Amino acid sequence: MRRTRYCDFTWGIVFYSVEIPNKTIEIFDTTLRDGEQTPGVSFTHEKKLEIARQLDRLGVNIIEAGFPISSAGEKEAVKDISRLGLNCIVCGLARVVKADIDACLDADVGMVHTFVSTSDIQREHTIKKSREEVVAMAVEAVEYIKRHGLPCLFSAMDATRTDVDYLIKVFKAAEDAGADILNIPDTVGVASPVSMKGLTAEVYKNVRVPIAVHCHNDFGLAVANSLAAVEAGAKQVQVTMNSLGERAGNADLAQVVMSLHSIYGVRTTIRTRHLVETARVIERFSGIPISPTQPVVGANAFSHESGIHSHGVIEESKTFEPGIMTPEMVGHQRRLVLGKHTGKHAVKKILNDSGLEPTEAELNAILERVKALGDKGKKVTDVDLYAITEAVMGEVAH
Ligand code: KIV
Ligand code: ZN
Repeated sequence: MRRTRYCDFTWGIVFYSVEIPNKTIEIFDTTLRDGEQTPGVSFTHEKKLEIARQLDRLGVNIIEAGFPISSAGEKEAVKDISRLGLNCIVCGLARVVKADIDACLDADVGMVHTFVSTSDIQREHTIKKSREEVVAMAVEAVEYIKRHGLPCLFSAMDATRTDVDYLIKVFKAAEDAGADILNIPDTVGVASPVSMKGLTAEVYKNVRVPIAVHCHNDFGLAVANSLAAVEAGAKQVQVTMNSLGERAGNADLAQVVMSLHSIYGVRTTIRTRHLVETARVIERFSGIPISPTQPVVGANAFSHESGIHSHGVIEESKTFEPGIMTPEMVGHQRRLVLGKHTGKHAVKKILNDSGLEPTEAELNAILERVKALGDKGKKVTDVDLYAITEAVMGEVAH
């Protein structure tokens, strides 16, 4: 395979990778559907509308607004989101069942996402249909959606545990029936980046319509697997904010998008400066706290405690940050955090920024007390620092 350079830093670091077939990737956000399947999460009607508006502001291409057949309230919410006049497409989820598709139509969606289990394990234990029956149901559903003139996204649920020849057969049948995009879900998150890339490449070779990928995070590989699928030709990634979703969640929107933009040099329509603000809206509405170490949007994503790191970023932020992703790009802020690892440069910078100019002796005394507090396992807050500084500068002055 031809190797092409996709990322060239001014810092002399050059990464090489395989050529990426699509230069722009579509972002399909399923925070309101798969994200709401996070155990314990249920968004109110008003919050769903607010989330949809925020996702539209963020610039997603498609919002999966819900599963209209699941309840009257769900259908109403999808309908109201469809009528918000958003720039993005509003999509509804449906099994390959007429009643589900009708519920999507009643909700005025702009796209129907229809799905059916294709793996033997799910076919035999859940829907109890033969392989042939599944193909027939898929074809009938896609044709029904297309007869209503709507774009149709077709998903082969549990694709990564489905016999590959059979999976291709299902996809080809759905494509021939008129499906506009074919989705490869890693429903229980068992793919590895290598297997996801191989499977996507196989599907890409055999179909003509664009491919989507929907990865779950059971082994923490959802983002890597989504990117691997993009490398092999996926045009659309299905993601959620804050990695919400069934069990360990779905591929994270912020991580996938920033990797695509900054590492792969691939474009999306996401206005990345709204990422942190969007993550915080979802945190508030879902009640699921964002881990401080969550990449891109977590509180620590651009925080530095160690003396060596803080000194480095004070001089030049690229020393201990990726550089190709800055806090400004994602609506975040760089922070110097104090603790037992703190060095003199960080303390000096924080105090200087507040208009305080300790002498060298004062600075050493302040640092000693900051470290002593950190050594006790205490978090050193700004209040602690100013109290220490006042005490030290006062003491030195007396
Ligand atoms: O994980 C999954 O397979 C799904 C489908 C509905 C696409 O969420
Ligand atoms: Zn899912």
